[in-house]
Amino acid sequence: MSLKRNILDLRKRKQEVQKGGGDEAIGKQIAMGKMTARARILSIVDEGSFHEYDLFVEHAGRDFDMEGKVLHGDGVIIGTGTIYGSPICVFAQDFTVAGGSLGLMHARKITKIMDHALKMRVPLVGINDSGGARIQEGVDSLAGYGEIFFRNTLASGVIPQISVILGPCAGGAVYSPALTDFVFVVENISKMFITGPSVIKTVLGEEISMEDLGGAKVHAELTGNAHFYAISEKECFEQIKKLITYIPWNNTQKAKIFPVKEPVSKYKIEDIVPADARLPYDIRDIIKSISDGSEFFEIMELFAPNIVIGFGRMNGETVGFVANQPKVLAGVLDCDSSDKAARFIRYCNAFNIPLITLEDLPGYLPGVDQEHAGVIRHGAKILYAYSEATVPKITVIIRKAYGGGYIAMNSRHLRADFVFAWPTAEIAVMGPEGAANIVFRKEIAEAEDPEAMRKQKIEEYKEKFANPYVAAARGYVDEVIEPQETRKILLHALQVSANKVDNRPAKKHGIPPF
Ligand code: HXC
Repeated sequence: MSLKRNILDLRKRKQEVQKGGGDEAIGKQIAMGKMTARARILSIVDEGSFHEYDLFVEHAGRDFDMEGKVLHGDGVIIGTGTIYGSPICVFAQDFTVAGGSLGLMHARKITKIMDHALKMRVPLVGINDSGGARIQEGVDSLAGYGEIFFRNTLASGVIPQISVILGPCAGGAVYSPALTDFVFVVENISKMFITGPSVIKTVLGEEISMEDLGGAKVHAELTGNAHFYAISEKECFEQIKKLITYIPWNNTQKAKIFPVKEPVSKYKIEDIVPADARLPYDIRDIIKSISDGSEFFEIMELFAPNIVIGFGRMNGETVGFVANQPKVLAGVLDCDSSDKAARFIRYCNAFNIPLITLEDLPGYLPGVDQEHAGVIRHGAKILYAYSEATVPKITVIIRKAYGGGYIAMNSRHLRADFVFAWPTAEIAVMGPEGAANIVFRKEIAEAEDPEAMRKQKIEEYKEKFANPYVAAARGYVDEVIEPQETRKILLHALQVSANKVDNRPAKKHGIPPF
């Protein structure tokens, strides 16, 4: 064959395989409002940057109806590309080919690109759209999942791992995304569950739709399995690309530096917090009054909204914000908000991203429900995560810092590098009302006018303890600052923390309260 004919032959073969499951299956995919696997990859990576590997891999199934069956690419596309010039490795399951089910060769393709991402120290993006373990390939499929889970764990904390759920992700398949750093879901498209509605009906006799069982909203709002929620695949891809700009390629690097932009004037910091300490405000407005260009890329926006986490930039460099949200449950810590914050703190620590904590909370949420849900175990995670973190850690106490909440939110005692407090800060074991009722119970009960005495004692307590100066007198707070100085002071603190060294005792690993 001449070279020209060889090339034509190659093109023909490529074209054939790139048809995936064929026109009918692709039509069905599109009718469901879903893009094809290849179109998804091409929508994420820079134009012309995608290189596909293992295009001609075929399945290895021999049982049932598999012998002689053609499954193009064995139902998954793998390759490399760039996002805004940064290299990534990517795989996308192709539902049009045997429901994107995972057999031996399908798994080998995924593990190949995972190994590549880890070796090259670049982020991995995995697009999941699959019926799960390929039933006909039995234990080879299960082995494939095991190999993926092992690699997810090996890569954890070394390279960023991003999972995108764009179809079913059923059975044990859900555990790969669950082991990765960020999970993206899309309204009406993503479905994640261990046992599907038909099994639930058979075993428990309960009827539930796939959407109500494990749809996008369920995971973004209720379970906390998803970190980003989008209303379309297009919006989801934009979110992924944005995320990539905030994180480094791997754990030995820092995220890309961007030009500095001053916050926009509509977020005027001194006007945000109400004078009455009982009134709520939106902590995101404070973040936006501090961050470059008032930009804040929120993570897990819909889950445990009493704490706010996400990325912003300070002086062009990525920082992670962790902030109590007084607008929701007064910003208390509970099981879910502790889980949410702890995981994010660990992410930032693993990937060299400094942490800025904004504090305004009355403490941990009291109640039987929380106690029985394990608030001790869950609440401990945030203490562990902050204590363990060695990246620059800076706290600004805005208003309330009571009890366990004060300690947990990156206090000096958990080795914050800098603790700043606004003059409005109230740092105490508990709020004035509760404290006065306990400490002065006798005087209040014996007073001629108990109500007047209670008010007087609350005022006395406020005067003495509900301020930042007692903590400042002990050096627990480094500086009491005026609100409008916050950005300037944080920029300076970040600048002097840039070469931070914090050595800890050698150990195999700690035992965090998972
Ligand atoms: C083999 C599968 C498959 C699977 C789907 N297909 N899932 N083939 N193994 N697990 C095939 C179908 O036979 C069909 O092939 C094509 O994919 C499209 O599937 P449909 O059912 O027509 O599509 P749809 O109606 O959209 O339903 C999608 C679905 C359903 C909800 C995902 O297919 C389903 O419930 N599949 C099984 C899901 C599941 O229980 N998986 C868990 C497996 S156990 P044709 O040739 O007709 O087009 C598991 C354990 C792993 O994953 C443990 C690891 C630790």
